[in-house]
Amino acid sequence: MEETNVLLSKLSEAEEVLVNRLEGRKPQIGIILGSGLNPMAEKVEDPVFIPYGEVPHMKCSTTTSHVGRFVCGMLAGKCVLVMQGRLHGYEGNTSQEVAFPVWLMHRLGIDTVITTNAAGAINESYKVGDFCIMSDHINFTGHNPVVGADPDGISFRFFSMKDAYDPELRKIAHEVAERENVSVQEGVFLAVLGPSFETPAEIRAFRALGADTVAMSVVEEVIAARHVGMRVLGISLCSNMGCGIEGASPTDEEVFEVAMRMQPDFCKLMSGIVGAI
Ligand code: HPA
Repeated sequence: MEETNVLLSKLSEAEEVLVNRLEGRKPQIGIILGSGLNPMAEKVEDPVFIPYGEVPHMKCSTTTSHVGRFVCGMLAGKCVLVMQGRLHGYEGNTSQEVAFPVWLMHRLGIDTVITTNAAGAINESYKVGDFCIMSDHINFTGHNPVVGADPDGISFRFFSMKDAYDPELRKIAHEVAERENVSVQEGVFLAVLGPSFETPAEIRAFRALGADTVAMSVVEEVIAARHVGMRVLGISLCSNMGCGIEGASPTDEEVFEVAMRMQPDFCKLMSGIVGAI
């Protein structure tokens, strides 16, 4: 109970500062940009920039290619709050620290979150450069942001994760991808803590478990968003094949290079989806 109250008062302090900095903007959609996908925030019009370090209790991004600031403005006719860079468990953040900005988005009145990342493809029919709309997830991080966060403070302790990735939003994403001629798959995302990439044996095991993609993010945000009833869409860019598939041995540089190359398609996909929501 004590911990919940601390979390709630931290959220209130952060909300107060963020609302002031938004200068009257009222974001409807939250967007979390993953590794190498941060440049999309440059498409936001009439932006305000708020570095995470200027929002009380927000942790800062420490990963290269994660800028570490909120960008609020207009995208495809909608007011969006973009996280230009995310927080990861492997940076030493607790699960609640990773989830904090998602709960903050909810406080601001945002009801829809689009979370994105670069991921390794486990499904051998996927290709590097494909996007993958998440249909569901397997949480292998061993973390959950709702541990210790309740009972009564934020929302219920127990809640369903069925259709956590909103079927309507997934349909919209497919329609936009088809219209824009962007190659998309749909599959099950598996999250690990990282920061080491997986072993070939882990990739084979994850495939046997039903996973199509793997990365080190997203699930804690999605759990937090569903905890407070926000609608979620998850999109991965398959930046590499999972370790061991056709001899693959992922590197950070490769992830970044593919993300840079796929930036135009990613921007088309994201603006199309935001416009259609
Ligand atoms: N594994 C885990 N995380 C990742 C990968 C991967 O292959 N690619 C990009 N992020």
